[in-house]
Amino acid sequence: MILITGSNGQLGNALQQLFSGLGVDYIALDRIGLDITNKDAILEVFGKYNPNIVINCAAYNKVEQAEECIEDAYRVNAFGPYLLAKVSNDFGAKIVHISTDYVFGGDQNSFSEIDCPRPLNVYGASKLSGEYMVQLANENNLIIRTSWLFGNNKDNSEKNFVKTMILKAREKEEIRVVEDQIGSPTYTNDLAKKINELIVLDAEPGVYHITNSGHCSWYEFANKILEFSKIESAPIPIKTSESGTKIKRPQNSILENKRLKEINVPVLRNWQEALIDYIK
Ligand SMILES: NC(=O)c1ccc[n+]([C@@H]2O[C@H](COP(=O)([O-])OP(=O)(O)OC[C@H]3O[C@@H](n4cnc5c(N)ncnc54)[C@H](OP(=O)(O)O)[C@@H]3O)[C@@H](O)[C@H]2O)c1
Repeated sequence: MILITGSNGQLGNALQQLFSGLGVDYIALDRIGLDITNKDAILEVFGKYNPNIVINCAAYNKVEQAEECIEDAYRVNAFGPYLLAKVSNDFGAKIVHISTDYVFGGDQNSFSEIDCPRPLNVYGASKLSGEYMVQLANENNLIIRTSWLFGNNKDNSEKNFVKTMILKAREKEEIRVVEDQIGSPTYTNDLAKKINELIVLDAEPGVYHITNSGHCSWYEFANKILEFSKIESAPIPIKTSESGTKIKRPQNSILENKRLKEINVPVLRNWQEALIDYIK
């Protein structure tokens, strides 16, 4: 039995769709069903369902807000993952934990699993701390770093970059998008399949980078979203310094999927192909 936490989010939803289709035995719990920062609640869930694998999709993802709400970010991104990892270890279960490109400082052409993390903001630092806490508490772990996710959350209520671009263009709003941050957009459906593949293969514990192939700037991403949606609109490229952000973000956060290649697991298709599928 697989336990999915944070199940209402983009990745949690994609995993549920995948497992339902495959007939995998799983239980999906949202924040109300299981608050990952509550140890008693985690123990109760383990007592009831006895999962042998936990996939932690719960996270505090508000990158800008995390600078002010440091305790909240660390509670959900580091303390909660620690509790999940500790309890799963005590029950003999594997933990699959999701992390981010934002653990890196953006000062290289690309980052592999063996490169040294150097987060530039509280969100990135809290996620890196979560990785360490999971590794500390449960040796039977997979830490999956991914980037620039797009997909639908459970009731399709939350926005993501793709939906925001389409909405703004339809409403004929001026679209200003940064052109000096580079990364790899990743479709949650593709990521979910690859996570499942690593589980089925019983891959060696540790850190894996999983993103769609290829890379782009947010500006190029916006242009492709509008092109594939057949909406005529011309986004304006801007520099990060003009975007009004108060925090540092990595200029380049391309994750080299080195470990997948080393174990002969095919990397994900190009992000543009995935985007076309998502928009369909
Ligand atoms: N989104 C990206 O671009 C991106 C990029 C790189 C890495 N990642 C990582 O990928 C993973 C999945 O991201 P996502 O985009 O699917 O996230 P998401 O859509 O924001 O979903 C996260 C879910 O976690 C839930 N949650 C928050 N606090 C919780 C708690 N204390 N206990 C249980 N659930 C809680 C949220 O519920 P509420 O909505 O009810 O608060 C939300 O449903 C995360 O680890 C994230 O850090 C994401």
